[in-house]
Formats: sequence, structure tokens, C-alpha cells
Amino acid sequence: MAKTIENLLSEERRFPPPTAFARAAIAQPGIFERADADYLRFWEAEAERLQWRERWRQVLDDSKAPFYRWFTGGKLNVTESCLDRHLATAGDRVAYYWEGEPGDKRTLTYRELHAEVCRLANALKSLGVRKGNTVAIYMGMVPELPIALLACARIGAPHSVVFGGFSAESLGERIRDAGAVAVITADGAWRRGRVVPLKESVDEALANAPTVRHAIVLRRAGNEIRMRAGRDHWYHEIVPKAAASCAPEPMDAEDLLFILYTSGSAGKPKGIAHTTGGYLTQVAATHRYVFDIKPEDRFWCTADCGWVTGHSYVVYGPLANGATSLIYEGTPDFPDKDRWWKLIADYRVTILYTAPTAIRTFMKWGDDYPRRRDLSSLRLLGSVGEPINPEAWMWYHATIGGGRCPIVDTWWQTETGAILISPLPGITTAKPGSATRPLPGIAADVVDEHGRSVPLGGGGYLVIRRPWPAMLRTIHGAPERYLDVYWRRFPGLYFPGDGCKRDLDGYYWLLGRVDDVMLVSGHNISTTEVESALVAHPAVAEAAVVGRADPITGQAIAAFVVLKAAVAGDDALITALRDHVARKIGAVAKPASIVFTEDLPKTRSGKIMRRLLRDISEERKLGDVTTLANADIVETIRGRAAHSPPSE
Ligand code: WT7
Repeated sequence: MAKTIENLLSEERRFPPPTAFARAAIAQPGIFERADADYLRFWEAEAERLQWRERWRQVLDDSKAPFYRWFTGGKLNVTESCLDRHLATAGDRVAYYWEGEPGDKRTLTYRELHAEVCRLANALKSLGVRKGNTVAIYMGMVPELPIALLACARIGAPHSVVFGGFSAESLGERIRDAGAVAVITADGAWRRGRVVPLKESVDEALANAPTVRHAIVLRRAGNEIRMRAGRDHWYHEIVPKAAASCAPEPMDAEDLLFILYTSGSAGKPKGIAHTTGGYLTQVAATHRYVFDIKPEDRFWCTADCGWVTGHSYVVYGPLANGATSLIYEGTPDFPDKDRWWKLIADYRVTILYTAPTAIRTFMKWGDDYPRRRDLSSLRLLGSVGEPINPEAWMWYHATIGGGRCPIVDTWWQTETGAILISPLPGITTAKPGSATRPLPGIAADVVDEHGRSVPLGGGGYLVIRRPWPAMLRTIHGAPERYLDVYWRRFPGLYFPGDGCKRDLDGYYWLLGRVDDVMLVSGHNISTTEVESALVAHPAVAEAAVVGRADPITGQAIAAFVVLKAAVAGDDALITALRDHVARKIGAVAKPASIVFTEDLPKTRSGKIMRRLLRDISEERKLGDVTTLANADIVETIRGRAAHSPPSE
């Protein structure tokens, strides 16, 4: 990685803002200094753009830092900013164009979306869901998914969206941790022409989730399901007959808006807690100035609402800004590999926000697919989820953007709630591969292992020096873990867990995770989680998992497995283990390769040396082996890894 960056810096590829962006939402560079001079006033001005019931007394309460509180005393319901306030001026504007994978279409204006949200909110109320009750949501990308988030917000019930690709077991664990009282789901979801049986997973999860009293089930894929009387309710039977107006529940600025689970290196997922006023303030602000959003834009953020990107830039940010978005249900290769480009042409999409893993996949498929379609409506491109390698950046810029669209490479996390580091398209000169600089109001830095700021030109750990409105407030049910994971490494500084290098212009070059969390296709997966799943299989004695660089998925999961005595390690077992992990965690966590070995490289204290396994997986010279207790095993594993082709 470091080498790539050096090469790049010497090449000095720079992309200044195109003249078309001279009148972008933010085009005056003075904004950085102004925000820096009084960052609380800067964020307060952003909060003033939202609809509040009562004004806050204090912008930031840091008396219990790092349990920061923003806009304390303020009262609002996020759905009033996202829906009600647009009705008078833009009720007939399209909020969502939606296309299903089979090709069915739906359009929802702000007025229609408002009515749908109110109906579902009333249906939830009729089932006894109250302010403060958590509701789990497990669906595909159908219009009812954003509607479900907003309906929960309308009545003050925190939502916990679980990505539809997660297994029944993962869903159950998240439902239990959140103590959800209801689930909103669908019979199934369309994915690559097949049905993902969502309700089946819900049934399995609920067998062991006693807090859930009700499930609302959307009919989407038409697959046969079981409905349990008293607990399960068809969406189409209870929602359309509910009233189309529902008074918004006034919420405190610091009331919980949602929990969203993200992988932790200790195996157990972390329920990231986001609250109301600060979160909406910052997602609305960043959506407006990073994407330079205009009423006539057609914005397409391709993320699923199961990830934070979908929460912030499919639902809350765009709706707070009264924007028009596209939502697509399915995969990019159905029925053919030009589906996204056809969607962009059909809907005249102007802004595309997607992930490097998708971009690399399209590169692999070849230029012919995007060339078939008219992409001239695009004016801005975005990237998120992992560092975008310069080759992919250049391809995205030339082949998708026609050389005319700026690219915003946006760095953020589930925990940060909103984008923190990114170019501003009207101001920033981009360098391919760099997320450029912290946004106005954000104080980032790069420090060494003692927490000392590293001068420009050096590398170390990324930290954030001042709180920001959309920051996580805690880990649900685990405040000590919140302190441990984010605040104890560098006291007083927020530590996101990413390595970072800063060049002499002060540009940030993100280097990936420094802990044992892997980033596979932009999804955060912990090594411990996959290891635990492998070890749960009856044939497995021990397992070590590492992320190795992969040209398509960013990182691919390489597993090293010690089998129980008398178990033969053959191809059938490799397949069985991969399926087993998919069942336990989800298909995204399937190891790309599995190597059987008699032992794992360990330190004398018995700690697995994953660093060496990474070296082996990436075919590097081995690093320091002096602390190794069993040196010979490394060579054995290396020989085997070289002879075992990846399973996919
Ligand atoms: C991790 C957070 C934010 C939504 C998607 C991922 C990596 C994210 C970038 C970027 C380099 C990036 C970081 C971060 N990451 N965006 N533009 N450049 N790295 O959310 O699952 O919480 O993962 O994704 O390593 O810590 P997440």
C-alpha cells in the first residue's frame, strides 16, 4: 500500500474542480477557516436548517465526555424535517424512484411517502409498539424499507436494521441484543433472479427471541411462507387500512434514533447507537455539500439500507434535503451486467454514490457494458467503504464519468454516522486514491503510537480531535466497551481504527484497518467472528482467519484450519465449511480460501500470529519470526497455501 502511494505522489495526478462546479453548494474555500474558528457555531447553523419543535439550550454538552451530547434540550421528530416540511413546497416532487429486480417500477412523491409512513406508523401503534420500543427491520431494498425506518422514527421507536443477507443466527443475536419487540420483514427478496427466503430466517430467529411479540410481513417475492397466528401480520392486511396521518412523536435531540450493528474485533457485534438531532444535522449537511445536491438532481446511492450508508444517504440525508433518489432492488448483473448503466440512462441519474468493490467488479466485466448505455446525465460520482485504488478511481472517472465528473472519495464509518473526510466538489483538487481533507467542522489528525501528531509527510493512526454531531453516543448496552474500543488507545481522541498517511499538502491517504477487522466488499467483518464460526463446526479444532488483499473485494478472507484428529481434509469439507460460515454469519463472510494445517503459527504465550499468515496469503517474505514458538509450521503452511487455489 505504502509503495502505491509513493508512486502516486510522484506522478502528481491532480483533478481540480470542473468549472461547472463554480456554483456548487459550497464554493468558497473560506468555509474551512470559518468552521474552524467556531465549530460549535458552524454546526449550530446547520442544525438551524432543520425543523425543530423546541430550540436547544446548549449546542454541545461535554460534561460527561466522551459521552457527548448535542443540541441538548432541543425537541424534534426527524420525519418532520424529512417529510412534512416539504409538503407545502414540494409535495409532488419525487422522493424515490424505485425499480425492482424483475423490472417492476414504483414512484413515490413526498406526499405519497408521507402518507405511507404515517400508515405504517399507525399500524405499528395498533400492535402496541410505543416510543422507546426497538423494532428490528429485515427486508430487501423495496420502498417499504425506507418507509419502515421512517415509520419507526415517526413514533419514536428506535429501529435496528439487519441486512437481508445476514443469516437467521445473526438476525437472532441482533434482535436479542437490542431487545426488539417487533420485526418488519418480507416473505422474500429478489436477488439475481432467485428468492432469498427472508421470512424463513425470521421464523428461525424468533424461535429464540422472546421479546418479539409481532412481525409485519410484506408480500414481495410471493414465495410460500408460514404465518404464525397472533404474531405474524400481513403488511397488506393492516397497513393500507390504517389512517394516512399520524402525529409525529416529539423526541429529545438525544433520544435514540437507531441502533446499527457492526463487527467488533472481540467477535460479538457492536450495536452502534445514534441519536436524533445531531445525526440528522450532519447527514443533511454533508449530503448537501459533499454531493452538491440540487432539487433537479437524481441521486443514486447504491447501498442497501442494511448498512449505515443506506441509513444516512438513502434515507435521512436525501429526504432532509428534499432530494429525489433512485432505489434499485437487485444485483448489478441481472438480467445482464449492464443493469446499473441502463438504470442510470433510464432515470437520468445525475449523481452516483457507490463502493470501490463494485467499481472493481465492473472493471473486470469490461468497458463494453457501460458503453452500451447513455451515461451523459451523470455530473458527480462518489465512493465509500474502503480505500479506492487509483486504477479504479481512474477507470470510474473516465469510463463512468466520461472525464467530466468530479469524484468524492468519502471516508467515514458506521460509528461516525456521516462523512468526515471528503473532497468538496466545488473547492477541492482531487488526487486519485486520497479522500483528501477533513470536511469543515471536523478536526482530524494523524498521530504516532504515543498519540503525538505526526508532521505532514508521515503516517500513523487516524484520530478525530473534536466531537461531531452525528457521532455514535455509545455501544448499545456496553458503555465500557465504547470507551475501550474508541477512546482508550489515545486518551481524549477518537480512534476509528484506521491507519493513515498524510502527504505534504495535508491530504489524507487511508491505509485500511489496523486491528483484526477485515473489509470485504466494503463490509466490516471481524477475524474472530469467522474463526468462531469455523470452530463451531464439528470437524474443526482450531482456525485462524486473515484478510488478504484482493483485486475485487478489497480484502478476501483466507482461512487456516486445524482439523480434529481422524477428520480428512478434502474438497467436500472445504465446501461444507464455507457453507457453514455462510449459514452462521452470512454469505459475505465465506472464506475465499481454506488451507488445512496441523498447527497454527503461535507466539510462546499461545497467541496466533496472524501477521505471518497474512504474509503467507499475500506471498510476501515473512516478517519477524523470532517470537514464534513453532517455526517449522510456517514453511509447511506456506507450501500448502501455494498449492491450494482459492475456492472462488
Ligand atoms: C471502515 C468503516 C461508511 C460506510 C461504509 C463502511 C473504511 C470507509 C473509506 C474511504 C478508505 C474507507 C475504513 C473505515 N472506509 N470509507 N473512503 N477510504 N477507507 O462502514 O462498515 O463502518 O466501515 O471502512 O476502514 O474505518 P463501516
